[in-house]
Amino acid sequence: MQVAVMGFGTVGSGVVELILKNKKSIQERSGQNSLDIKHILDIRDFSSHQLADLFTKDFNDILNDKDVQIVVETMGGLNPAFEFVSKSLEAGKSVVTSNKELVAAKGYELLELAKKNNVNFLFEASVGGGIPIIRPINQCLAANEFLEVAGILNGTTNFILTKMIDEGMDFDEALKIAQANGYAERDPSADILGHDAARKICILASLCFGKHVYPDEVETEGITNIAKEDVEYAKAWGGVIKLIGRSKKQSSGKISATVGPCLIKNGCQLASVTDVFNAILVRGDAVGDAVFYGRGAGKFPTASAVVADVIDCAKHTERRKLIGWEPAENDYVINPLEQSSALYVRADASDYNAVAEKVKASFDGAQILNYDNENKNEIAFVTPLMNEKDAREKIDSLNLEVKNILRVLDY
Ligand code: HSE
Repeated sequence: MQVAVMGFGTVGSGVVELILKNKKSIQERSGQNSLDIKHILDIRDFSSHQLADLFTKDFNDILNDKDVQIVVETMGGLNPAFEFVSKSLEAGKSVVTSNKELVAAKGYELLELAKKNNVNFLFEASVGGGIPIIRPINQCLAANEFLEVAGILNGTTNFILTKMIDEGMDFDEALKIAQANGYAERDPSADILGHDAARKICILASLCFGKHVYPDEVETEGITNIAKEDVEYAKAWGGVIKLIGRSKKQSSGKISATVGPCLIKNGCQLASVTDVFNAILVRGDAVGDAVFYGRGAGKFPTASAVVADVIDCAKHTERRKLIGWEPAENDYVINPLEQSSALYVRADASDYNAVAEKVKASFDGAQILNYDNENKNEIAFVTPLMNEKDAREKIDSLNLEVKNILRVLDY
């Protein structure tokens, strides 16, 4: 069986190297006599590469090659990936992608196209890098009604936050190391502003709850506003700050979907996830909580998931794997203000005692946080769990110079 790889960047080159390295076992597990890479598409010059003969700059070399039955898309971005993937599926080729932007924006269309052409469209590597999560949700946990899915979905930001928390490193220095390790997106703003995690929670929510969720429906906040003080107040509260993507089924049948930095209590499984590692918690009505943990970014962890999908495609040439979801109605994703949240607030407080009294009077059960802070003109507190709109209105009515508001994870 012949495979083509589109995009020879960090992930694509990892896919090629992994297929060559583990050729024998991969062939055996595919049930194929051979599984070979026939073309590698990349617009850059690889004429001196040891696999130079495989490189092409022309997508038609792949599209028109009847021997190529599986196309791997590791180019990233929407264009031309969407066009190339659509044309490959229409030509009767199965497609494997690591491209979360593509799946989050066009997953429904591409899955329908795969169904129409009786081929596979698989995307295990699009969420959680090397962590098995798409297949477990779609297969192993298929007996459950899903109640919630939440996790640390971006390796770069988790790496940066870990360096800031544990080593006191500054943001830019930590980002540079993450980029040098190949964790960050081509444009790292997708990582640090939360868009990469938003794409991933869209894919997880679509899969768990059965209707397509688009990135612009997900309230998204990154980590650029996290200050050293927030990290210290979180420690004083007994926890850490993590960038969390979360989607929860509501009793109305609608869902919430958000990405943002959250306070998490030490002891919660997500709190101990550090460095480039990701973890995804899936809550099902039968299984309870299941947590999936591993390397969420990087060349070979991501290639591991891509090549497993290639093997699955090779095993399912006659009968496609059932995976998919429906389009959603317009107001399917609720406004986060409708949900219940506890909020962490940090604000200026020139008259600390007076502000602390006002906070306690406004929020029954508010927890004032303290650490050994030089700056006594600042207050931080955590509200009780309550309707988020009411909580934010109360905070507004305190007339504080607010520096940060973060959600507190309620498990
Ligand atoms: N930039 C992404 C991350 C790569 O840091 O998690 C994996 O999707």
